[in-house]
Amino acid sequence: MAIWNSFRDDDYLSLVPWARFDLVSEGAPSPFSFVGGVAPEVVASLHEAHRVLNNSVEAAITDVFEGRSALQDPAFRALVEDAYAELVQSRADLRQHIRCGRDFDGTFRWEFPIDPSQRPRVKFSGLQLVNGLTKQATSFDFDRPMTPAVGKLLGVLDGTHRMAEVQQVLASVGPDLEPRLVHLLEALKEQQCMATSARSSVGAYWLANTHDRDVVHLGHAGLAYRLGDEFLFFDPWLVPWFAEAPMPSLWCGLLPKPAAIFLTHEHGDHLDRRTLLQMPKDVPVIVPSRRNRRALYYDYRMVLGELGFSQIIELAHGERWPFDGGVVEALPFFGEDPCDLELPRNCYLVADRGRNTLVQADSGPTNDGRSAVKEGVIEDLVRRNGPVLTVFASQQQLFEVRARSVSACLSPPGRWLERGENGYLTNAYLEQVAVSAKARLFVSYATGGAAWLPDNLPFVFGPGRPAGRALLTAYWEPMERLGELLRLQGCSYHYSRALDVFRATPDGGVQVVDGSERFDPSRLFGVDSGG
Ligand SMILES: [Fe+2]
Repeated sequence: MAIWNSFRDDDYLSLVPWARFDLVSEGAPSPFSFVGGVAPEVVASLHEAHRVLNNSVEAAITDVFEGRSALQDPAFRALVEDAYAELVQSRADLRQHIRCGRDFDGTFRWEFPIDPSQRPRVKFSGLQLVNGLTKQATSFDFDRPMTPAVGKLLGVLDGTHRMAEVQQVLASVGPDLEPRLVHLLEALKEQQCMATSARSSVGAYWLANTHDRDVVHLGHAGLAYRLGDEFLFFDPWLVPWFAEAPMPSLWCGLLPKPAAIFLTHEHGDHLDRRTLLQMPKDVPVIVPSRRNRRALYYDYRMVLGELGFSQIIELAHGERWPFDGGVVEALPFFGEDPCDLELPRNCYLVADRGRNTLVQADSGPTNDGRSAVKEGVIEDLVRRNGPVLTVFASQQQLFEVRARSVSACLSPPGRWLERGENGYLTNAYLEQVAVSAKARLFVSYATGGAAWLPDNLPFVFGPGRPAGRALLTAYWEPMERLGELLRLQGCSYHYSRALDVFRATPDGGVQVVDGSERFDPSRLFGVDSGG
C-alpha cells in the first residue's frame, strides 16, 4: 500500500503533538450515557422530566437571588414534588418509567427501576481530526463499530514503534477493519499529523531526569509515579498542543509509556477520553469496581473497551495491585457527590518499599458528613502501612444547587433546591487528613496548575490568571491558610504546578524539585525530533 512507501523501515512513527482527535457520538450523549444499573430509556425519561421542569426551577432559584424567598424555604420541596408528579402523570412516556405521587399520608414517592444487568449502549460514530497548527479539520466516519481498533492505532503511534510494528497492529484488527485504518493513516499523513524519527528516546530521557520513586505532577490531577524503571500514571488529563491555549503542553507522546494507568473517578478531568484514546493500549487500566456500587455505576469497562483497552482491572476498596516491593491499594472515595449517587470511586495508596503516597484526588466529606477521616479509613491505612509521607489532595470548595448538577435527574425532585457539596474541602478537614495520615508533605493539586488547561472550569486555576482565580475563590476559606495550619502540625504544604517533581530525600522526607525546564514540552518534543 502506498502509505508504507512514505516511511523508512527503521523510522519510528508518531503523531505530532498538535494532532487532536475527538470522538463523535451517535446523538448528543447525556451526562449519564456511561452509567450502568438503569435502563437507558429510563434515564431518558428522568432526563426529560428534569428538562421540562428546569425553567420553573431556575425561576425559583432567581427568586432566592432576588430575596423574594430563601433557599431553605420548606415550601419549595412540596412545590417541586407536586409539579414533577403532575408532569409525570400527564405523559404516558414518563409514567412508563417513573412512579411518583403523594400517598394518603402526604408522603411523596419517587421511584424508577434499578436493574444491575443494564449497561449503557453508547457507540461512537466517527472521529474528528484537527491539526492544531494548520487548523485544518477532517472528519472520519465509522461505517461500523471500530473505535477500539482506532484507539489501538492511535496508541501505537507514540514514537516507540517502527513501521513493521504498526503494520502488525493493523493486521491484528482483521481484514475488515484494516483498510479503514490504512485510510485513517493516509488522512493523518495528508493532514501533516504524522512524524517520523530515527530515534525513540523520550522514555530514556525521563529515566535520566527522574529518580526511582519520584512523583511528577502532570497538571491538574495527573501524576506519574516512577517505580524502578517504569511509571504508573494516575488520572492523566493531558492536552494536545494549541487545543485549549496557545502554547506547547504535555501530551501523550512526550511522556514515557506508562506501565499502568489508575483512574480515581469518572469526572472528565480525571478520566479524559481524549487522553486515553491516544494512550498505548497494551497497558492495564485500574478502575473503581462495580462491587462497590450502591445502585448505579459508571461503566469503565464499556468506555475503556470502546477506546481500545483490553486489560481493565476493577479494584474494589481494600484490594491491592501488587508490584515488586509494594502495592497500590484502592481506598474508598467519599463526596464530590452533590446528589448522593454514590457511584463507585477510588482513592489510592502507593505503599512502595517503606514509603507511602496517598492519592486522594477530590475526595472529601459527603453531604451527610462521612469522610475518609470520619470513617477511620486513613487511620486504618496508617495502622497497616505506617505513616504516609506525601498526601496529594484537592483544595476545591464547591457547592452546587442540586437541580443544576449533571446528576440531578437521578435524584429526588423534592431535594433539587437543596445545596449539595461538589467537593467541599475545608482547611480544617484537610488538616485532619494530613494529621491522620501523619504526613510530612501535603500537596495541593487537582485544581489546574498548568497554563495549557482550559480556563472555563470552576476548579481550574491557571497560573498567570490571578484575577480569574480571585473571582472563583472570593468567598472560599483562604487556601493558603492551610499551609500555616499544617506547619503547626509538622507537615509541609505545597501548591503544585505541572512539572513539579516530588523526590524522596535520604532522611525519609520529600523535597519539591522544579522540573519545568527539564520537562518543558517543547524540549521533550525536541528529544526525538531534534527540533
Ligand atoms: Fe472530580
